[in-house]
Amino acid sequence: MGYSIAIDGPAGAGKSTIAKRIAKSLSFVYVDTGAMYRAIALHLIRQGVPPGDSDLIGKVCQEADITIRYQDKEQQVLLNAENVTGLIRTEEVGNMASASSVNPKVRLKLVELQRALAAGADVVMDGRDIGTYVLPDAFLKIYLTASVKTRANRRYLELQKKGIPCDLAQITEDIEERDHRDMTREFAPLKQAEDAVLVDTSSMNIEEVADQILKLYKEKRAKL
Ligand code: DC
Repeated sequence: MGYSIAIDGPAGAGKSTIAKRIAKSLSFVYVDTGAMYRAIALHLIRQGVPPGDSDLIGKVCQEADITIRYQDKEQQVLLNAENVTGLIRTEEVGNMASASSVNPKVRLKLVELQRALAAGADVVMDGRDIGTYVLPDAFLKIYLTASVKTRANRRYLELQKKGIPCDLAQITEDIEERDHRDMTREFAPLKQAEDAVLVDTSSMNIEEVADQILKLYKEKRAKL
């Protein structure tokens, strides 16, 4: 496992931006596990599977072969050999990913891939259950969060910047619904691991958050 870093937290806390920075700074491999759940969700949407049909989700997800490759150090996610990296960032796919990821069959399929990636390199892995379930022995665990209002605003600005039409009230509602589902599902729910450090990013900028985590990491390494 080496010196891997697990970053968990709710939607919009800034996990991927921070995780990418830290990975770059430490020359670790960044693994975005949400992208894997999103790729399965895209497959389910394309197959017309309703978000509430857990039997069908369990069945259809078996047809989705998910692989990861790195291009210029950027993670690319492949669904049945198709590069879907650019297609999975919509709210529709995110909501379907949250709904379908409650299914243990979906989770077990991806956990194997995630653990294999961490076995082959030092990683900064972000998700919902990395510190609690996927990599329980991670060297450093961070629970990154922010208020619902802050997270909704950030997502709104991010979508606007990309020219994707969106509505702040709807985003807030989606985030609350997604938090609830991610935190209350039976199998590997989102929660802070006992040995994770809580970082609330509501009034911090990206540099401050990244610096704080890098400091924690370096202090821990120095103690070895
Ligand atoms: O981080 P994200 O928004 O890309 O994740 C989309 C959904 O995928 C999230 O709402 C829940 C699910 N997910 C998960 O259950 N476990 C993970 N490790 C990562 C994501």
